[in-house]
Amino acid sequence: MKVLIFDTVTSAVEAVADRLAGKVAGKPDCVLGLATGGTVEPVYEALVARYEAGRVRFDQTHTFNLDEYVGLEPTHPMSYHSYMARHLFDRTDFRACNTHIPHGNAADPAAEADHYERLIKGRGGIDLQLLGVGENGHIGFNEPTSSLSSVTRLKTLAPETVRANSRYFEHQSDVPQVSITMGIATILQADEIALLATGSNKAKAVRDLIEGPLSAMCPASALQLHQKTEVYIDAEAAAEL
Ligand code: GLP
Repeated sequence: MKVLIFDTVTSAVEAVADRLAGKVAGKPDCVLGLATGGTVEPVYEALVARYEAGRVRFDQTHTFNLDEYVGLEPTHPMSYHSYMARHLFDRTDFRACNTHIPHGNAADPAAEADHYERLIKGRGGIDLQLLGVGENGHIGFNEPTSSLSSVTRLKTLAPETVRANSRYFEHQSDVPQVSITMGIATILQADEIALLATGSNKAKAVRDLIEGPLSAMCPASALQLHQKTEVYIDAEAAAEL
């Protein structure tokens, strides 16, 4: 695990954007694993800026998002489909047929999860996976106690994740309780991983993922098993190291 500490959020974000754009420049038809959440929003903004400046194009690039809320239509403003359209896909030249996000409104969500895992394998796996981390150490929606060998499946959100994500919904009761998420084993199969964590609210999760014991209680600690993981953090997120 390579830990990269930056003075500011902006410099950490720019480094992650450079990492992703560099991957695409070197291999235009690469497969990116993508994340959602507030932390990675500026990364997408930085990628859009590079695209608008003609420094990168995505028309051959494939993507698989980590997760989606079960029960939300793709058009729901709080779905991760809408998030990705808003922050990246509608603002760049990604081709819709190359971008993948689990369908949270599938008639059979468990079958959709199995199908999604097969789709990733069928595409040859993920070259570079972008990750954020939850305050409780979750990656994707793999909440504490998730099996370290889990694959894409249904996962109930932890109460603290429902609370954290309720800032995007009108009422906390509107936050879906269940997600479809890549599993921890799915994530570990990516060739390379870049995790971004910023802000003091992530300091404990960052400490646990880097220095803590390998434990299902901190799903991100599973990244200690991965040979090509980079952790990009700002000074505040690094405060407990
Ligand atoms: C969400 C997503 C994760 C994300 C995390 C942190 O629930 N499922 O992929 O990394 O929580 O989100 P934020 O960056 O908003 O703190």
